[in-house]
Amino acid sequence: MSETKPSEPSLTVLGIETSCDETAAAVVTGEGRILANLILSQLDEHRPYGGVVPEIAARSHLDHIDRLVGEAMEQAGLAFADLDGVAVTAGPGLIGGVFVGVMTAKAIALAWELPFLAVNHLEGHALTARLGAALDFPYLLLLVSGGHCQLLAVEGVGRYRHLGGTIDDAVGEAFDKTAKLLGLGYPGGPAVERAATEGDPEAFGLPRPMLGRPGLDFSFSGLKTAVRHAAQGAGLLDNPEGDPQRRADLAAAFQAAVGDVLAERCTKALALFAERYAKAGPLVVAGGVAANRHLRARLDAVAASAGTRLLAPPPALCTDNAAMIAWAGVERLRLGLTDPLDFAARPRWPLEDLAARAAASPG
Ligand code: KG4
Ligand code: ZN
Repeated sequence: MSETKPSEPSLTVLGIETSCDETAAAVVTGEGRILANLILSQLDEHRPYGGVVPEIAARSHLDHIDRLVGEAMEQAGLAFADLDGVAVTAGPGLIGGVFVGVMTAKAIALAWELPFLAVNHLEGHALTARLGAALDFPYLLLLVSGGHCQLLAVEGVGRYRHLGGTIDDAVGEAFDKTAKLLGLGYPGGPAVERAATEGDPEAFGLPRPMLGRPGLDFSFSGLKTAVRHAAQGAGLLDNPEGDPQRRADLAAAFQAAVGDVLAERCTKALALFAERYAKAGPLVVAGGVAANRHLRARLDAVAASAGTRLLAPPPALCTDNAAMIAWAGVERLRLGLTDPLDFAARPRWPLEDLAARAAASPG
Protein backbone atom coordinates (compact mmCIF):
# COMPACT_ATOMS: atom_id res chain seq x y z
CA MET A 1 0.00 0.00 0.00
CA SER A 2 1.32 3.44 -0.83
CA GLU A 3 1.33 6.42 1.43
CA THR A 4 -1.55 8.81 0.90
CA LYS A 5 -1.56 12.57 1.10
CA PRO A 6 -4.40 13.77 3.35
CA SER A 7 -6.11 16.97 2.17
CA GLU A 8 -3.66 17.24 -0.72
CA PRO A 9 -5.51 19.70 -2.98
CA SER A 10 -4.06 18.42 -6.23
CA LEU A 11 -5.18 14.79 -5.83
CA THR A 12 -6.02 13.29 -9.20
CA VAL A 13 -7.68 9.90 -9.50
CA LEU A 14 -8.50 7.69 -12.48
CA GLY A 15 -11.85 5.89 -12.10
CA ILE A 16 -13.00 2.76 -13.94
CA GLU A 17 -16.55 1.39 -14.06
CA THR A 18 -17.51 -1.94 -15.69
CA SER A 19 -20.10 -3.44 -13.32
CA CYS A 20 -23.07 -3.46 -15.70
CA ASP A 21 -23.54 -2.46 -19.33
CA GLU A 22 -21.49 0.72 -19.44
CA THR A 23 -17.72 0.70 -19.97
CA ALA A 24 -16.51 3.92 -18.38
CA ALA A 25 -13.29 5.72 -17.48
CA ALA A 26 -12.89 9.15 -15.88
CA VAL A 27 -10.32 11.41 -14.27
CA VAL A 28 -11.40 13.60 -11.34
CA THR A 29 -9.46 15.96 -9.05
CA GLY A 30 -9.66 16.52 -5.31
CA GLU A 31 -11.40 19.86 -5.96
CA GLY A 32 -14.14 18.00 -7.80
CA ARG A 33 -13.07 18.94 -11.30
CA ILE A 34 -13.94 16.33 -13.91
CA LEU A 35 -11.01 16.29 -16.35
CA ALA A 36 -12.45 13.43 -18.43
CA ASN A 37 -15.61 11.34 -18.19
CA LEU A 38 -16.04 8.79 -20.98
CA ILE A 39 -18.87 6.29 -21.23
CA LEU A 40 -19.31 3.62 -23.84
CA SER A 41 -22.82 2.23 -23.71
CA GLN A 42 -23.43 -1.38 -24.74
CA LEU A 43 -27.13 -0.67 -25.31
CA ASP A 44 -27.08 -1.80 -28.94
CA GLU A 45 -25.39 -5.09 -28.05
CA HIS A 46 -28.02 -5.97 -25.41
CA ARG A 47 -31.11 -4.47 -27.04
CA PRO A 48 -32.07 -7.61 -29.03
CA TYR A 49 -32.34 -9.50 -25.71
CA GLY A 50 -34.40 -6.84 -23.89
CA GLY A 51 -31.93 -6.74 -21.00
CA VAL A 52 -28.27 -7.02 -20.08
CA VAL A 53 -26.60 -10.35 -20.98
CA PRO A 54 -23.69 -10.80 -18.51
CA GLU A 55 -21.44 -12.74 -20.90
CA ILE A 56 -21.84 -10.20 -23.69
CA ALA A 57 -21.22 -7.39 -21.20
CA ALA A 58 -17.95 -8.88 -19.90
CA ARG A 59 -16.58 -9.50 -23.41
CA SER A 60 -17.48 -6.01 -24.51
CA HIS A 61 -15.80 -4.43 -21.45
CA LEU A 62 -12.69 -6.43 -22.29
CA ASP A 63 -12.73 -5.21 -25.89
CA HIS A 64 -12.99 -1.53 -24.99
CA ILE A 65 -11.58 -0.74 -21.55
CA ASP A 66 -7.91 -0.26 -22.50
CA ARG A 67 -8.70 2.17 -25.30
CA LEU A 68 -11.20 4.07 -23.16
CA VAL A 69 -8.75 4.49 -20.28
CA GLY A 70 -6.14 5.74 -22.77
CA GLU A 71 -8.61 8.24 -24.19
CA ALA A 72 -9.61 9.47 -20.74
CA MET A 73 -5.97 10.08 -19.83
CA GLU A 74 -5.39 11.85 -23.10
CA GLN A 75 -8.43 14.05 -22.63
CA ALA A 76 -7.29 14.89 -19.10
CA GLY A 77 -3.87 15.78 -20.53
CA LEU A 78 -2.13 13.51 -18.03
CA ALA A 79 0.31 10.64 -17.95
CA PHE A 80 -0.24 7.71 -15.57
CA ALA A 81 2.70 8.98 -13.50
CA ASP A 82 0.70 12.18 -12.79
CA LEU A 83 -2.06 10.24 -11.02
CA ASP A 84 -2.40 9.91 -7.25
CA GLY A 85 -4.53 6.78 -7.34
CA VAL A 86 -6.59 4.33 -9.41
CA ALA A 87 -10.17 3.63 -8.34
CA VAL A 88 -12.38 0.90 -9.74
CA THR A 89 -15.81 -0.56 -9.07
CA ALA A 90 -14.95 -3.82 -7.25
CA GLY A 91 -18.61 -4.79 -6.73
CA PRO A 92 -21.50 -5.26 -6.47
CA GLY A 93 -22.35 -6.06 -10.09
CA LEU A 94 -22.11 -8.59 -12.89
CA ILE A 95 -18.93 -10.32 -11.80
CA GLY A 96 -17.42 -10.97 -15.25
CA GLY A 97 -17.51 -7.26 -16.01
CA VAL A 98 -16.30 -6.30 -12.53
CA PHE A 99 -13.28 -8.59 -13.01
CA VAL A 100 -12.35 -6.80 -16.24
CA GLY A 101 -12.32 -3.40 -14.53
CA VAL A 102 -10.55 -4.63 -11.41
CA MET A 103 -7.79 -6.40 -13.35
CA THR A 104 -7.25 -3.30 -15.50
CA ALA A 105 -7.04 -1.01 -12.48
CA LYS A 106 -4.72 -3.36 -10.61
CA ALA A 107 -2.39 -3.58 -13.61
CA ILE A 108 -2.17 0.23 -13.84
CA ALA A 109 -1.66 0.56 -10.07
CA LEU A 110 1.07 -2.07 -10.11
CA ALA A 111 2.87 -0.73 -13.17
CA TRP A 112 2.88 2.87 -11.95
CA GLU A 113 3.13 2.16 -8.22
CA LEU A 114 -0.11 3.98 -7.51
CA PRO A 115 -2.52 3.48 -4.59
CA PHE A 116 -5.33 1.08 -5.54
CA LEU A 117 -8.87 1.95 -4.45
CA ALA A 118 -11.54 -0.77 -4.55
CA VAL A 119 -14.79 1.19 -4.69
CA ASN A 120 -18.25 -0.14 -3.88
CA HIS A 121 -20.47 0.89 -6.81
CA LEU A 122 -23.22 1.97 -4.42
CA GLU A 123 -20.78 4.16 -2.51
CA GLY A 124 -19.97 5.79 -5.85
CA HIS A 125 -23.64 6.71 -6.25
CA ALA A 126 -23.92 7.68 -2.56
CA LEU A 127 -21.05 10.22 -2.67
CA THR A 128 -21.72 11.71 -6.13
CA ALA A 129 -23.70 14.63 -4.68
CA ARG A 130 -20.47 15.79 -2.96
CA LEU A 131 -18.67 15.97 -6.30
CA GLY A 132 -18.57 19.66 -7.12
CA ALA A 133 -21.11 20.72 -4.47
CA ALA A 134 -20.79 21.66 -0.81
CA LEU A 135 -22.51 18.88 1.10
CA ASP A 136 -21.60 17.87 4.65
CA PHE A 137 -22.30 14.59 6.43
CA PRO A 138 -24.71 13.37 7.60
CA TYR A 139 -27.42 13.38 4.93
CA LEU A 140 -30.39 11.26 4.01
CA LEU A 141 -29.91 9.30 0.80
CA LEU A 142 -32.51 7.74 -1.44
CA LEU A 143 -30.57 5.36 -3.67
CA VAL A 144 -32.70 4.29 -6.62
CA SER A 145 -31.09 2.33 -9.46
CA GLY A 146 -31.64 -0.73 -11.62
CA GLY A 147 -30.67 -3.11 -8.86
CA HIS A 148 -31.27 -1.12 -5.68
CA CYS A 149 -33.84 0.89 -3.78
CA GLN A 150 -32.67 1.97 -0.36
CA LEU A 151 -32.96 4.74 2.18
CA LEU A 152 -29.70 5.34 4.02
CA ALA A 153 -28.25 7.79 6.48
CA VAL A 154 -24.83 8.71 5.09
CA GLU A 155 -22.74 9.48 8.15
CA GLY A 156 -19.37 9.66 6.42
CA VAL A 157 -17.20 7.96 3.81
CA GLY A 158 -17.71 4.22 4.37
CA ARG A 159 -20.38 4.86 7.02
CA TYR A 160 -23.88 4.04 5.84
CA ARG A 161 -26.87 3.26 8.06
CA HIS A 162 -29.66 1.33 6.39
CA LEU A 163 -33.09 2.82 7.14
CA GLY A 164 -35.26 0.96 4.64
CA GLY A 165 -35.17 -0.89 1.35
CA THR A 166 -37.19 -2.80 -1.16
CA ILE A 167 -38.53 -6.19 -0.14
CA ASP A 168 -38.77 -7.30 -3.79
CA ASP A 169 -37.97 -5.36 -6.98
CA ALA A 170 -35.79 -2.27 -7.33
CA VAL A 171 -37.45 0.89 -8.71
CA GLY A 172 -35.34 0.88 -11.88
CA GLU A 173 -36.31 -2.73 -12.45
CA ALA A 174 -39.99 -1.74 -12.18
CA PHE A 175 -39.41 1.01 -14.78
CA ASP A 176 -37.63 -1.46 -17.06
CA LYS A 177 -40.37 -4.10 -16.71
CA THR A 178 -43.12 -1.55 -17.29
CA ALA A 179 -41.36 -0.39 -20.44
CA LYS A 180 -41.06 -3.98 -21.63
CA LEU A 181 -44.75 -4.74 -20.96
CA LEU A 182 -45.76 -1.63 -22.87
CA GLY A 183 -43.37 -2.29 -25.74
CA LEU A 184 -41.57 0.99 -25.05
CA GLY A 185 -38.16 -0.51 -25.57
CA TYR A 186 -34.95 -0.70 -23.64
CA PRO A 187 -33.62 0.90 -21.47
CA GLY A 188 -36.94 1.33 -19.77
CA GLY A 189 -36.56 4.29 -17.42
CA PRO A 190 -36.03 7.05 -19.98
CA ALA A 191 -38.62 5.45 -22.32
CA VAL A 192 -41.32 5.43 -19.61
CA GLU A 193 -40.46 9.01 -18.66
CA ARG A 194 -40.71 10.13 -22.28
CA ALA A 195 -44.04 8.37 -22.84
CA ALA A 196 -45.43 9.66 -19.53
CA THR A 197 -45.04 13.30 -20.58
CA GLU A 198 -47.92 12.77 -23.06
CA GLY A 199 -50.10 10.80 -20.65
CA ASP A 200 -52.80 11.41 -18.05
CA PRO A 201 -51.73 9.83 -14.74
CA GLU A 202 -55.36 9.67 -13.58
CA ALA A 203 -56.47 7.55 -16.53
CA PHE A 204 -55.55 4.30 -14.75
CA GLY A 205 -55.95 3.49 -11.05
CA LEU A 206 -52.81 1.74 -9.84
CA PRO A 207 -51.89 0.64 -6.29
CA ARG A 208 -49.39 2.45 -4.07
CA PRO A 209 -47.62 -0.48 -2.36
CA MET A 210 -46.53 0.06 1.28
CA LEU A 211 -48.14 3.51 1.44
CA GLY A 212 -49.09 4.26 5.05
CA ARG A 213 -47.38 1.12 6.34
CA PRO A 214 -45.01 1.42 9.32
CA GLY A 215 -41.27 1.37 8.62
CA LEU A 216 -39.37 2.61 5.59
CA ASP A 217 -39.41 -0.40 3.28
CA PHE A 218 -40.58 -0.44 -0.33
CA SER A 219 -42.30 -2.97 -2.57
CA PHE A 220 -42.77 -2.72 -6.32
CA SER A 221 -43.73 -6.21 -7.48
CA GLY A 222 -47.47 -5.63 -6.87
CA LEU A 223 -47.34 -2.43 -8.89
CA LYS A 224 -45.66 -4.27 -11.73
CA THR A 225 -48.44 -6.92 -11.69
CA ALA A 226 -51.07 -4.17 -11.66
CA VAL A 227 -49.42 -2.56 -14.69
CA ARG A 228 -49.50 -5.92 -16.48
CA HIS A 229 -53.23 -6.33 -15.78
CA ALA A 230 -54.00 -2.77 -16.81
CA ALA A 231 -51.96 -3.21 -20.00
CA GLN A 232 -53.81 -6.42 -20.79
CA GLY A 233 -57.18 -4.79 -20.18
CA ALA A 234 -56.31 -1.88 -22.46
CA GLY A 235 -54.98 -4.12 -25.24
CA LEU A 236 -51.45 -2.78 -24.81
CA LEU A 237 -49.66 -5.92 -23.65
CA ASP A 238 -46.92 -6.86 -26.11
CA ASN A 239 -48.90 -5.04 -28.76
CA PRO A 240 -46.96 -2.47 -30.74
CA GLU A 241 -50.25 -1.54 -32.50
CA GLY A 242 -51.92 -0.56 -29.19
CA ASP A 243 -53.39 2.92 -28.69
CA PRO A 244 -50.37 5.25 -28.11
CA GLN A 245 -52.44 7.57 -25.93
CA ARG A 246 -53.52 4.74 -23.62
CA ARG A 247 -49.88 3.60 -23.47
CA ALA A 248 -48.77 7.09 -22.49
CA ASP A 249 -51.56 7.22 -19.87
CA LEU A 250 -50.42 3.95 -18.31
CA ALA A 251 -46.77 5.07 -18.29
CA ALA A 252 -47.84 8.30 -16.56
CA ALA A 253 -50.01 6.41 -14.05
CA PHE A 254 -47.11 4.08 -13.23
CA GLN A 255 -44.68 6.98 -12.79
CA ALA A 256 -47.17 8.83 -10.58
CA ALA A 257 -47.63 5.73 -8.39
CA VAL A 258 -43.86 5.41 -7.96
CA GLY A 259 -43.70 9.14 -7.19
CA ASP A 260 -46.36 8.83 -4.47
CA VAL A 261 -44.56 5.91 -2.82
CA LEU A 262 -41.12 7.55 -2.90
CA ALA A 263 -42.54 10.85 -1.65
CA GLU A 264 -44.32 9.24 1.31
CA ARG A 265 -41.34 7.09 2.31
CA CYS A 266 -38.94 10.07 2.05
CA THR A 267 -41.26 12.26 4.11
CA LYS A 268 -41.20 9.65 6.88
CA ALA A 269 -37.47 9.09 6.51
CA LEU A 270 -36.75 12.83 6.80
CA ALA A 271 -38.73 12.93 10.06
CA LEU A 272 -36.79 9.97 11.44
CA PHE A 273 -33.50 11.47 10.24
CA ALA A 274 -34.26 14.81 11.94
CA GLU A 275 -35.00 13.01 15.19
CA ARG A 276 -31.88 10.85 15.05
CA TYR A 277 -29.38 13.44 13.85
CA ALA A 278 -30.97 16.66 15.17
CA LYS A 279 -30.73 18.02 11.62
CA ALA A 280 -33.32 18.56 8.88
CA GLY A 281 -31.90 16.66 5.92
CA PRO A 282 -30.70 17.41 3.37
CA LEU A 283 -32.28 14.80 1.14
CA VAL A 284 -30.01 13.43 -1.58
CA VAL A 285 -31.22 11.26 -4.42
CA ALA A 286 -28.81 9.12 -6.43
CA GLY A 287 -28.74 6.22 -8.88
CA GLY A 288 -30.08 5.92 -12.42
CA VAL A 289 -33.74 6.51 -11.49
CA ALA A 290 -32.71 9.85 -9.96
CA ALA A 291 -32.39 11.09 -13.55
CA ASN A 292 -36.21 11.11 -13.76
CA ARG A 293 -37.53 14.68 -13.79
CA HIS A 294 -40.99 13.86 -12.43
CA LEU A 295 -39.52 12.02 -9.45
CA ARG A 296 -36.98 14.80 -8.83
CA ALA A 297 -39.81 17.34 -8.74
CA ARG A 298 -41.79 15.23 -6.26
CA LEU A 299 -38.76 14.80 -3.98
CA ASP A 300 -37.95 18.49 -4.25
CA ALA A 301 -41.40 19.27 -2.85
CA VAL A 302 -40.97 16.68 -0.08
CA ALA A 303 -37.66 18.24 0.99
CA ALA A 304 -39.12 21.75 0.92
CA SER A 305 -42.05 20.76 3.16
CA ALA A 306 -39.58 19.23 5.63
CA GLY A 307 -37.69 22.54 5.74
CA THR A 308 -34.69 21.26 3.83
CA ARG A 309 -33.48 20.89 0.25
CA LEU A 310 -33.09 18.15 -2.30
CA LEU A 311 -29.68 17.59 -3.81
CA ALA A 312 -29.64 15.60 -7.01
CA PRO A 313 -26.57 15.16 -9.18
CA PRO A 314 -26.93 16.22 -12.83
CA PRO A 315 -28.73 13.39 -14.72
CA ALA A 316 -25.53 12.29 -16.48
CA LEU A 317 -23.92 11.63 -13.09
CA CYS A 318 -27.00 9.76 -11.80
CA THR A 319 -26.79 6.91 -14.28
CA ASP A 320 -23.68 4.74 -14.16
CA ASN A 321 -20.45 6.59 -14.90
CA ALA A 322 -16.79 6.47 -13.89
CA ALA A 323 -16.57 10.04 -12.52
CA MET A 324 -18.51 8.87 -9.46
CA ILE A 325 -16.04 6.00 -8.97
CA ALA A 326 -13.04 8.31 -9.35
CA TRP A 327 -14.66 10.72 -6.86
CA ALA A 328 -15.31 7.96 -4.30
CA GLY A 329 -11.65 7.09 -4.85
CA VAL A 330 -10.65 10.69 -4.05
CA GLU A 331 -12.74 10.61 -0.87
CA ARG A 332 -11.21 7.30 0.24
CA LEU A 333 -7.66 8.31 -0.71
CA ARG A 334 -7.95 11.46 1.41
CA LEU A 335 -8.71 9.24 4.40
CA GLY A 336 -5.95 6.77 3.63
CA LEU A 337 -8.47 4.03 2.82
CA THR A 338 -6.44 2.35 0.08
CA ASP A 339 -6.67 -1.36 -0.74
CA PRO A 340 -4.19 -4.18 -1.33
CA LEU A 341 -3.76 -5.53 -4.85
CA ASP A 342 -5.16 -8.90 -3.80
CA PHE A 343 -8.54 -7.30 -3.05
CA ALA A 344 -11.17 -9.68 -4.45
CA ALA A 345 -13.99 -8.47 -6.72
CA ARG A 346 -17.45 -9.14 -5.26
CA PRO A 347 -20.77 -9.84 -6.98
CA ARG A 348 -22.63 -8.93 -3.76
CA TRP A 349 -21.42 -6.15 -1.46
CA PRO A 350 -23.96 -4.41 0.80
CA LEU A 351 -23.09 -0.82 1.67
CA GLU A 352 -23.47 -1.50 5.37
CA ASP A 353 -20.47 -3.89 5.15
CA LEU A 354 -18.23 -0.92 4.38
CA ALA A 355 -18.43 0.33 7.96
CA ALA A 356 -16.51 -2.70 9.25
CA ARG A 357 -13.92 -2.32 6.48
CA ALA A 358 -13.45 1.40 7.20
CA ALA A 359 -12.97 0.67 10.88
CA ALA A 360 -10.38 -2.00 10.09
CA SER A 361 -8.38 0.20 7.69
CA PRO A 362 -5.72 2.71 8.67
CA GLY A 363 -6.63 6.42 8.74
O1 KG4 B 1 -27.55 3.46 -11.61
P1 KG4 B 1 -27.86 2.83 -12.92
O2 KG4 B 1 -27.35 3.51 -14.17
O3 KG4 B 1 -27.36 1.35 -12.96
C1 KG4 B 1 -27.45 0.53 -11.83
O4 KG4 B 1 -26.52 0.61 -10.98
O5 KG4 B 1 -28.47 -0.18 -11.73
O6 KG4 B 1 -29.43 2.68 -13.00
C2 KG4 B 1 -30.06 2.12 -14.11
C3 KG4 B 1 -31.55 2.17 -13.89
C4 KG4 B 1 -32.32 1.43 -14.98
O7 KG4 B 1 -33.28 0.60 -14.39
C5 KG4 B 1 -32.95 2.58 -15.77
O8 KG4 B 1 -34.17 2.20 -16.38
C6 KG4 B 1 -33.17 3.59 -14.67
O9 KG4 B 1 -32.02 3.51 -13.88
N1 KG4 B 1 -33.32 4.94 -15.23
C7 KG4 B 1 -34.44 5.68 -15.12
C8 KG4 B 1 -34.22 6.86 -15.86
N2 KG4 B 1 -32.96 6.81 -16.39
C9 KG4 B 1 -32.42 5.62 -16.00
N3 KG4 B 1 -35.61 5.44 -14.48
C10 KG4 B 1 -36.56 6.38 -14.56
N4 KG4 B 1 -36.44 7.52 -15.27
C11 KG4 B 1 -35.29 7.82 -15.93
N5 KG4 B 1 -35.16 8.94 -16.63
ZN1 ZN C 1 -25.47 2.18 -10.67
